[in-house]
Amino acid sequence: MDYKIRTKIARILLDDAVAEGAEITVLGSVRTVRTGKDVAFVEVNDGSCMANLQGVIKNPGGFPVLDEILTGASVRMKGKLLPSEGAKQKYDFVVDDLKLIGSADSGYPLQKKRHSFEFLREIAHLRMRTNTFGAVNRIRSKISYAVHRFFQERGFYYIHTPIISASDCEGAGELFRVTTLDLDNIPREAGKIDWDKDFFASEAYLTVSGQLEAELAAMALGDVYNFGPTFRAENSNTARHASEFWMIEPEMAWAEIDDNMDLAEEFLKELFRFALEECPEEMDFFGKWIDKEARQTLEGVVDSEFARITYTEAMDILGKAKEKFEYPVGYGKDLQTEHERYLTEKAFKAPVIVVDWPKEIKAFYMRLNDDEKTVRGMDVLVPRVGEIIGGSQREERYDVLAQRIQEVGVGELEDYDWYLDIRKYGTVPHSGFGLGFDRAIMYITGMANIRDVQPFPRVPRWAKF
Ligand code: 4AD
Ligand code: MG
Repeated sequence: MDYKIRTKIARILLDDAVAEGAEITVLGSVRTVRTGKDVAFVEVNDGSCMANLQGVIKNPGGFPVLDEILTGASVRMKGKLLPSEGAKQKYDFVVDDLKLIGSADSGYPLQKKRHSFEFLREIAHLRMRTNTFGAVNRIRSKISYAVHRFFQERGFYYIHTPIISASDCEGAGELFRVTTLDLDNIPREAGKIDWDKDFFASEAYLTVSGQLEAELAAMALGDVYNFGPTFRAENSNTARHASEFWMIEPEMAWAEIDDNMDLAEEFLKELFRFALEECPEEMDFFGKWIDKEARQTLEGVVDSEFARITYTEAMDILGKAKEKFEYPVGYGKDLQTEHERYLTEKAFKAPVIVVDWPKEIKAFYMRLNDDEKTVRGMDVLVPRVGEIIGGSQREERYDVLAQRIQEVGVGELEDYDWYLDIRKYGTVPHSGFGLGFDRAIMYITGMANIRDVQPFPRVPRWAKF
């Protein structure tokens, strides 16, 4: 059978690119079958878009195979596309040839009723085929394209930073170890594990961020970005943390914190504008079934001006708030989700960028301010999701950086010699940030749990599928 001869449903229903009267072949998965005495309807979906195409069979008696076709089966239908007689759809697809390709038994778990997202997480292969995950996966793909377009149009080069890394960029110790040592027989030297015997002759991990490597690339190429998977062994079971997630990290040579904030704001607005303009089918779906305000939320951000405040100002606002917070506020404390939400949802009713953080609660690579107490870090907060971007101007002064590495205790100076070197040979002020792609997708779709915007979520105690 030649499966290349087929018309995708998106071409018919979304692009409207198929002429009435055309003879077409459609391949897809059956969503519903209704067989009457004089007519049968077989509704199929082929994944190219949300919408199903309804095949109309005018003499069901001539199609005994109909009895074997249940929800979930895959079929090939050949027929003619005609203007619909009913008001509900534009076309009737009048089928004259129907073939069952793969049957599905009556135990197919995805019937027409709605299933909870928790239930669907248990049946990954079918979860993909629901309307919700179809829309999620399509919008992930489209927004990925928008990410590349945004940076490529601005002259940023896409850089592939490594997945296996020896350094803990964020210094938070949330690393997954990579090793080929025999765990039942670990080589030791003077009572300690002998890492020299391991694959890389040193300890190695899955990366928590490609930033350090992106900084080197920016020194050579100017403006770069990476976009890839990131891993964190953070044992927090929240709706916005995953153990594996995708991050987009631009890094710009010749850029300070204000340039960084400008880029972050422009970037988020562009992604949201893209979702509104280029993903109407998905946005309509999310607006109808997931979050009634999905569109308005994005429109609000696109039209807004992001508030920019210092950490100290944020603490002042939170301290004066007439709100009962679960976690205390006060100078030196990190912002919790509830604080982030208060700032964006109540205090400013817009995204908020918080800059100039106490150095104690931020990573070692952020540029130290003249007060020597705060660093030029920035968090971009949005309503509902909270922190969506984390970034900073980088410490470009060799001595200050070397001192910070030692102060913070992220490792030996010699472990970072390759990173320090760019401060030694023609150092340049530079800045960058990381956008959590999955959090951006949560924000765009209105989905409440990060697990439900990832095709194969990895979270504590779960990596099976
Ligand atoms: O704030 P983070 O930790 O920043 C960095 O990793 C920097 N090295 C980025 C840079 O400057 N190049 O992480 C950046 C973003 C967060 O704002 C959040 O959106 C997302 O990554 N993120 C997570 N998303 C899902 N699950 C997790 N466990 C996440 N941890 C961070
Ligand atoms: Mg952060």
